[in-house]
Amino acid sequence: MALIVGNWKMHGLRADLAEVEAVAAGLPGVGHRVGLCPPLTLLAQAAGLAEGTALMVGAQDVAPGRFGAMTGDVSAVMLKDAGARLVIVGHSERRQHHGETDAMVRAKAEAALAEGLMPIICVGETEAQRDAGETLAVLTAQLVGSLPAPGGGELAIAYEPVWAIGTGRTPTSEQVAQAHAHIAAVAGAGLSVLYGGSVKPGNAAELLAVPGVGGLLVGGASLKAADFLAIVNAGG
Ligand code: PGA
Repeated sequence: MALIVGNWKMHGLRADLAEVEAVAAGLPGVGHRVGLCPPLTLLAQAAGLAEGTALMVGAQDVAPGRFGAMTGDVSAVMLKDAGARLVIVGHSERRQHHGETDAMVRAKAEAALAEGLMPIICVGETEAQRDAGETLAVLTAQLVGSLPAPGGGELAIAYEPVWAIGTGRTPTSEQVAQAHAHIAAVAGAGLSVLYGGSVKPGNAAELLAVPGVGGLLVGGASLKAADFLAIVNAGG
C-alpha cells in the first residue's frame, strides 16, 4: 500500500475546503494511504472534514519544542491538537528560502515523532548538483544529517529532485530507481520513500511502478480533487 500525500503549499482559501471534502469522499475503495497538507489556516477545518474518513490531514512545516516565546511558530503538539496526523519537514522550498539546515530538519522530525505525527522528510538534489554527478553524495549527506535516530515512530522520506518541482520535468524511471535504492541503502529498508516533483495524473502510475517507490508527494496536482483523486487511483 503506497502513501500518497498532497502538498498545497501557499495555496487555498476557505472556499477550497470543498476540494478536501471531495478528496475525502472519493477515498473509499482506494488501495493507498492518502494524506493532504493544506495551509495552516485551513488545517483544523480540513481535519474536521476528514474525520471519520480515510483521509489523513497534515501540515507543511513544524517548529521544534512544545510552547514558548517563538512568534509565528507552530509546534507539533499544536498541529496534533488541530487534527494533523503527518507533517512535511525539510521541503526544498524551506531549505532554500528559509535557510533550513539538515540539523534543523532533524529537530523538526524529532519534534513531530515525539507527538506521534508522521514526519515526511524531504531530500533531493539541485540541477547543478545532478549535472556535477553529486546526486547520491547530496542525498547521503541530507539523510545522515536530517534523519532522526531509528525507533521513534513511523516516518517517511520524500525524494524530490529540486529541478523537478513545479517544472513539469520528471527524472527517468532509471534515475528515480537509482535514487530510491540509494536512499534505502542509507536510511534502511522498511521506510516508505515517496517520489515528488511534477507528479500528474498522467505519470503517477508509471512513477508508482518504479522499484523502491513507496508513494508520491504531489504539489500542484493536489489542489483540485479531481486531479488528486486521479493520482490516488493510479496504479492501484
Ligand atoms: P509539484 O511539487 O508536484 O508541484 O512539482 C511537488 C512538491 O514540491 O512536493
